[in-house]
Amino acid sequence: MRVVPSMMDDCHAILDILLNSGIFNRTDAECVDQMFNEAFTKPEEDTYRFLSCWEGITLVGFACYGHESLTQDTWDLFWVCVSGATRRKGAGRALLTEVQHRAAQERGRLIVIYTSSTEKYTPARGLYESMGFTRTAVVPDYYADGDDLYIYSKRLAWRES
Ligand SMILES: CC(C)(COP(=O)(O)OP(=O)(O)OC[C@H]1O[C@@H](n2cnc3c(N)ncnc32)[C@H](O)[C@@H]1OP(=O)(O)O)[C@@H](O)C(=O)NCCC(=O)NCCS
Repeated sequence: MRVVPSMMDDCHAILDILLNSGIFNRTDAECVDQMFNEAFTKPEEDTYRFLSCWEGITLVGFACYGHESLTQDTWDLFWVCVSGATRRKGAGRALLTEVQHRAAQERGRLIVIYTSSTEKYTPARGLYESMGFTRTAVVPDYYADGDDLYIYSKRLAWRES
């Protein structure tokens, strides 16, 4: 697996992965599309960053992350998704490893992730927990009744370079 900053041409494959994820819908895809466009058309605002994961010549997953502007060196993981056929082969871990690495290189102090308590997010929670993220907060019924918000966080170690 190779994880590199996304290129403008990756957008179509990224939206395809989202729409076929079994989790996200067209509204989610439109939101990612907007964030992707913003990342490329207003780079000076440094809102969102995208990474693409490649297996050979196939784009198999992506992550979107960024610095949370109202904080001191806190970064958010906004999206991570791997194509159904490629799951459980290390792409999710490779993407999140690279997000942490890049955030730490820019003096990132903390990474925060929002996710859901429901069954279909079991793989996501498994990924975060396996990578040392701690469930720091729960907001009951946040997304819907019976669908809690789980907030995961992890401190990053950064070095002067
Ligand atoms: C979450 C997701 C990105 C994980 O990607 P992936 O490439 O399959 O994950 P990896 O192969 O790197 O797995 C890394 C670790 O995560 C955990 N994990 C992954 N899938 C899991 C599952 N189905 N159940 C439990 N733990 C799981 C395991 O600890 C795994 O390590 P292991 O395979 O050595 O046991 C992927 O399942 C996905 O795209 N899901 C749909 C989108 C989604 O939920 N995004 C997150 C929204 S908050």
